[in-house]
Amino acid sequence: MIKYLGSKRRLVPRIVDIVGRIPDVRTACDLFTGTTRVAQALKRDLGLHVIANDVASYAEVLAQCYVATDADMVDVGELRAKLDHLAALPPVDGYVTETFCRQARYFQPRNGMRIDAIRAEIDVVAANPTERAILLTSLMEAADRVDSTTGVQMAYLKQWAPRASNDLELRLPELIAGTGSAVRSDANELAPSLAAQGVDLTYLDPPYNQHSYAGNYHIWETLVRNDAPETYGIARKRIDVRTSRSDYNSRVRAWDAFSALVESIDTPWLLVSFSDEGFFAREAITELLSQHGETAVAPIDFPRYVGAQIGIHDRKGARVGEVSHVRNTEFLFLCGPNANEVLALSSEAATA
Ligand SMILES: C[S@@+](CC[C@H](N)C(=O)[O-])C[C@H]1O[C@@H](n2cnc3c(N)ncnc32)[C@H](O)[C@@H]1O
Repeated sequence: MIKYLGSKRRLVPRIVDIVGRIPDVRTACDLFTGTTRVAQALKRDLGLHVIANDVASYAEVLAQCYVATDADMVDVGELRAKLDHLAALPPVDGYVTETFCRQARYFQPRNGMRIDAIRAEIDVVAANPTERAILLTSLMEAADRVDSTTGVQMAYLKQWAPRASNDLELRLPELIAGTGSAVRSDANELAPSLAAQGVDLTYLDPPYNQHSYAGNYHIWETLVRNDAPETYGIARKRIDVRTSRSDYNSRVRAWDAFSALVESIDTPWLLVSFSDEGFFAREAITELLSQHGETAVAPIDFPRYVGAQIGIHDRKGARVGEVSHVRNTEFLFLCGPNANEVLALSSEAATA
C-alpha cells in the first residue's frame, strides 16, 4: 500500500468493528477513498459490496485493482507472466527519469528508467482495464518502496533515503474476492445518487486541512495518466496542480462543501472520520449530522506523526525544541437509527 497522508491505517480495525455491528448493511460507499484501505477492509472483512470514489486518477486505479476486481475472476498465472515480462524490460531514459530523477531527485535514475520502460509497456500488454489497473498498482507500489521522500511529493529528501538504492521490484497486489466498483468523481456530485444505488452506509473521510492531495501525490497522478505534463518548481509538480485545488482544502469553502455533502446524502447510515487538527470542530460536525439522524461520536487517541515525536532540531542535529503536542485525536462520528447503541458496544469491545 502506498504511503499516504491521512490514510486510515490505524483506524481500519475500529471502522470494521463499528460497521460490522450494524445490521443489514450490504453495500457501502467510501466517498474519499485515497489508498482504498477502508474500502478494501469493508469488502474483505465484512463481505460488503463497496463503491470506492475519489477525484484522483491514481485512487481510481487503486480502486479498480482492489475494490472493483474480484480476485476469483482473475487469471493469476497470466498476471504473473506479465509482471515478469515488465520486470525484465531494458531501461528507457524517458519523462520520469528526466523529470523525477534529474530535475528532481525522487528516484535513483536506474529505477526511474525502469519505471519509464514499464509504464509504456503496461498499455501494450494489458488485455483489459482490470489488468491495466492491477499492473499500474503494482508499478505505483514498487515505485513507492524506492522513493526518496517522507511520504509526500511536495519535496524530496536532501540526502537519498536508504530505500531509494533498492531495486524496483514488481509484486502482484493482494487482490480481494468479492464485488465492488471504482468511481472518479467529485464527492459532492456523486453523493445525491447513492441512496438510489442501494448504498446502506456512506463513509466520509475528506481532506481536513489546506494540504492538497493533488500536490502531494502528483507523481502518482502523472504515472497513471502518462500524459507527460509541464511541471513547475523544485518539486516538479504538474502544472494543473495549481488549478485543481479541492474545496475541502480551503478554510473558507470547506464547511459549505461538507455541509452540502451531508445534506445531499440519503443513505440510512453515515460514518465520518475527522481529526482534531482539521478545519471543523467536533461540535459543529455533531450538530450537522444530528439533523440527518441519531449521532454518536468516538474519540480515538493516537501518537502524532513521527516528526512531532522526535522534536525540533537545529542543522547540526541538536534538539532545540518540542512541538506543541505529540498526540492527536481522530473522531469517528456514526449517524443512523441506533448510532449510540452501536458505538457504545464498539467502544466497550475496543477497551475490553
Ligand atoms: C483524507 S484522504 C482519504 C484517505 C483514505 N481514507 C485512506 O485511508 O487512504 C482524502 C481524499 O479525498 C480526495 N478528495 C479531495 N477532494 C475531493 C472531492 N471533492 N471529491 C472526492 N475526493 C476528493 C483526495 O484525493 C484524498 O484521496
